[in-house]
Amino acid sequence: MKKKTVSAIGLSIQIVLLLLLLAYGLTGYGITEFRTVQSMTFGLITKPVAFEIHNNLIIPFLLVLLLHIFFKPLSRLFFKEKNTP
Ligand code: HEM
Repeated sequence: MKKKTVSAIGLSIQIVLLLLLLAYGLTGYGITEFRTVQSMTFGLITKPVAFEIHNNLIIPFLLVLLLHIFFKPLSRLFFKEKNTP
């Protein structure tokens, strides 16, 4: 696999992780400050919805976090082309 493709995968993982972190923050805030978040999201994220999302984010978050942490060593191991800049 080309170095460019490996970097693009790495960047995609970082973006997904960032979105998951933001979702964690927003839904956490949506549990404690539900009136604010509900009006901010035009009634989309109500308290029960925020609670449901917040509680179910742990597995995807940990999977993407592990992928993010181990992506560099794993890509060196599996992709033939050297990833040195
Ligand atoms: C809970 C959150 C996070 C933890 C615990 C974490 C942890 C780490 C660790 C351990 C590394 C070193 C991996 C390696 O070089 O082998 C790393 C690298 C990096 N992380 Fe994170 N990270 C987190 C979130 C993020 C987010 C949200 C972004 C970007 C939006 C990000 C961007 C980067 C970048 C650019 C590198 C360098 C990758 C490279 O050298 O190719 N990280 N992170």
